[in-house]
Amino acid sequence: MDAKSQNNIEQMRSFKKDLIRFMMSYKFALAEVNTKIDILKQEFQYIHDYNPIEHTNSRLKSPESILRKIDRKGIGLSLPYISENIKDIAGIRITCSFISDIYKIKDMLEQQKDITVIECKDYIEYPKPNGYQSLHLIIQIPIFMSDREDLVPVEIQIRTIAMDFWASLEHKIYYKYNKEIPVRIKNELKEAADTAAKLDKKMEDLHKEMNQIKQLSQHEDILGEQLANNDTFKLIPAMFMSEFNKNNKN
Ligand code: GTP
Ligand code: MG
Repeated sequence: MDAKSQNNIEQMRSFKKDLIRFMMSYKFALAEVNTKIDILKQEFQYIHDYNPIEHTNSRLKSPESILRKIDRKGIGLSLPYISENIKDIAGIRITCSFISDIYKIKDMLEQQKDITVIECKDYIEYPKPNGYQSLHLIIQIPIFMSDREDLVPVEIQIRTIAMDFWASLEHKIYYKYNKEIPVRIKNELKEAADTAAKLDKKMEDLHKEMNQIKQLSQHEDILGEQLANNDTFKLIPAMFMSEFNKNNKN
């Protein structure tokens, strides 16, 4: 083998090593964030006796999908360019019960010292024209490796079950149909998104109302217990009986 071929092979080996390390850092970042979410889930359940997270999904973008995005965005084919311009190589989707849970989870993640939110898109406050709703965060977390520390971006999409239902079906409809979607279908999809948003609002209101009822009944239980334990109130039935007996004698 001549020196040039040898050099090419060396370069390819070195690129392969860099590429594997590059993808590994995203895999580790996903594992870190998944653990963080799992901790929040378990601790929240323990403290508040309630779990705001219905389920989570995570994925690493496939090399084909990364290449398609590189092509679409006209990014140079080098790892630093890719990491600078593609922030959703590691992605996590969190599905919650209620809209208020979405913002609770966002706040809990934001408060963590090693997490930096570098982008936040609130498609709940400002839905996309087609009706799409979700909260998108791009966060950055440090990953500690044998000889270095990498700051790795992770895209976190947080949405309700209704938002997730709409987005999955809308994606399926678009995915199977390569041509432009007819206007009537687009309008109906938008209507369906509005219906999903109304359902979310309704469920949130019911949830709040039930919480108030629960708090009120807990309050009443505590008051009842205090009254039962209070000697002054224990005297009342006795006083009442003695008055009753007196009156009956007369
Ligand atoms: P990218 O460069 O592709 O990340 O574009 P962007 O940053 O403008 O995208 P954005 O943050 O708005 O959305 C990124 C992801 O959100 C997509 O990959 C989808 O998973 C999801 N998403 C955004 N818009 C829609 C939509 O209209 N329908 C569905 N089903 N999913 C959407
Ligand atoms: Mg994006």
